[in-house]
Amino acid sequence: MACAHGLVTDGDEAFSIDASNLVFGRGVLAEIGDHAKALGAKRVALFTDRRLAKLPHVEIARASIVEAGLDLAVYDDVAVEPTDVSFLAAASFARAGSFDAYVSVGGGSVIDTCKAAALYATYPADFLTYVNKPVGGGVPVPGPLPPHVACPTTCGTGSETTGIAVCDVLSLSAKTGIASRRLRPALALVDPSVTSTLPATVVAASGFDVLCHALESYTARPHRARARADRPSARPMSQGSNPWSDLGSLEALRLGGLYLERAVRDPSDTEARESLAWAASLAGIAFGNAGVHVPHGMAYAIAGLVKGFKMPGYPDAEPLVPHGVSVVLGAPAVFRATAGACPERHLACAKLLGADISGVDPVSPKEVGDVLARELARLMKATAVPADLGAVGYDSGDVDALVRGTIVQKRLLDNAPIPIGEPELASLFRASLGGAA
Ligand SMILES: [Fe+2]
Repeated sequence: MACAHGLVTDGDEAFSIDASNLVFGRGVLAEIGDHAKALGAKRVALFTDRRLAKLPHVEIARASIVEAGLDLAVYDDVAVEPTDVSFLAAASFARAGSFDAYVSVGGGSVIDTCKAAALYATYPADFLTYVNKPVGGGVPVPGPLPPHVACPTTCGTGSETTGIAVCDVLSLSAKTGIASRRLRPALALVDPSVTSTLPATVVAASGFDVLCHALESYTARPHRARARADRPSARPMSQGSNPWSDLGSLEALRLGGLYLERAVRDPSDTEARESLAWAASLAGIAFGNAGVHVPHGMAYAIAGLVKGFKMPGYPDAEPLVPHGVSVVLGAPAVFRATAGACPERHLACAKLLGADISGVDPVSPKEVGDVLARELARLMKATAVPADLGAVGYDSGDVDALVRGTIVQKRLLDNAPIPIGEPELASLFRASLGGAA
């Protein structure tokens, strides 16, 4: 079967590259004050969460900002799973403080909250105004935002390199987000030494987020298969797979195949944890330009409808399916379904992750899809991640609700290499239930 990525269509021949400004290396967190000052900062809002606020990372950042002679106020009330309510609470802090620059030190929730706070403090509006259609109005961000220096403390979300902020809209029980190039941080400071203290379960979950960013970017609908935007300047960030994103995706998968298991097993394996942090940055840059697709769409519903599941190593007050786990649970079934659209790409992914592909017919969607799905399942087992939706509390009675929670993720589903509607989603969720099917 021909690979859809090789077809020339009457879609968008061009692709754009939104490169991230990124500084990567051990110890760069201590450079933050100087970088903020160079971006013109005088009065800085530092976003983090209560758990991180007690760790040395925030103190290192705070000291560096003070040493650079900048005013500083700390907001440590970021929610583990941000909502419209928590975004707006952060925005009112930002508005009241009259800040001219933003700094975030934390995981994806912290960085996303900082993006939203800067947006709503700078261009106040009803919350749904900027939220992606069809949940929100999808109104473009009106203009530039103050500079934001993002410092990730996990090795997964890639939020420091993207213009996306994700949250739950509580009144609608929908997980969605805001996507705009204006939200992309002015600078990502990636200090891999901060990942040395992460629990194994956090590394595993964020590692699968990295792998899925790369897998989904590389297998996304090709940019040539997407209709042209009304105006060239309105070309979306989720533009589909493209040569720029392919570079980052393939290297991130290679590094993930080599280092994910080692990074989970041994916190002292500096080479593995640093390599995974670099893979996270590469995959973030890739999906920031290509967009992710169905596994991330399914993840919104899987995380949003969680019942009682709690993951060891995470704050245990609330049931929670960590983002990376919610993403990878649907991934094996999705890649079995999408393999026919581009078998070469799916086979390349399986090989980079470490699968033995000898004997696999490279043009057989079934064989190619199976080998990639099996390799993902093997990695999930090897890193003690829940194996299927049954393991996080779902059963066949939940399929309709999971489909309803996913079908609204139009931006993601449209980026898949095959048409995805409600019947396809239902069969993907059923196939992901495992023993609960
Ligand atoms: Fe993700």
